[in-house]
Amino acid sequence: MREKKARTLAPIHTLLAERFSTRAFDPERPVLFGTLLSLFEAARWAPSSFNDQPWRFIFWNRFYDPDGWQKAFECLTSGNQRWARNAQILVSSVARNHFSHDRSTNRWGGHDTGMATMALLIEAQAQGLAAHVMGGFDPDTLRREFGIPEDFGPMAMIAIGYAGSPDLLDPELAAREAGERTRESLDRILFEGSWAQPVRDRKSPPSV
Ligand SMILES: Cc1cc2nc3c(=O)[nH]c(=O)nc-3n(C[C@H](O)[C@H](O)[C@H](O)COP(=O)(O)O)c2cc1C
Repeated sequence: MREKKARTLAPIHTLLAERFSTRAFDPERPVLFGTLLSLFEAARWAPSSFNDQPWRFIFWNRFYDPDGWQKAFECLTSGNQRWARNAQILVSSVARNHFSHDRSTNRWGGHDTGMATMALLIEAQAQGLAAHVMGGFDPDTLRREFGIPEDFGPMAMIAIGYAGSPDLLDPELAAREAGERTRESLDRILFEGSWAQPVRDRKSPPSV
């Protein structure tokens, strides 16, 4: 697999450092069903509020169900269609809006479905697969075409396959593919004790 490793300030697991959202998928190398199943199994074991497991996933396999895959593909924005056309698997992640135990609103449904999706992404990385989450799709068409019930909200689409050569992409996307992964610095996102309070210097901790 191609590498696009994160430059981290503290050491992190290679699965996290090396995961990235590729746009270059190998159009031919097949994803075996057993391998795909491991991704959803990883998602199934994610934590969730009240263990409600609000996530649902629908997948389409371009090799076995080209018509269904095509219908799902057509729900993507044109920008995503530019590169997702080579992904063998498309997935829709869907979150239930209400808890099953008392029907109250589950305000963590999207959060927990996101956590299950991250588990899926990391399992994909561990299996040597590439996966790319997309928010650019038409949720209403997706709901209508695939019978998603009222109480569930489409969260994201995920393109999955083996990473392929960036030469398969148009020049603009190939250039983006070659770019470094970037993030906000830790001091922009991490506070200690109160909002906007910087992390105190840990180089010389007080003696106990
Ligand atoms: C909820 C969500 C929606 C996203 N939507 C899109 C999208 O529509 N198209 C796209 O190319 N990437 C999309 N991405 C991928 C992000 O652009 C990507 O994760 C981010 O740039 C960081 O890059 P990395 O995943 O390679 O570290 C989305 C990611 C998430 C989590």
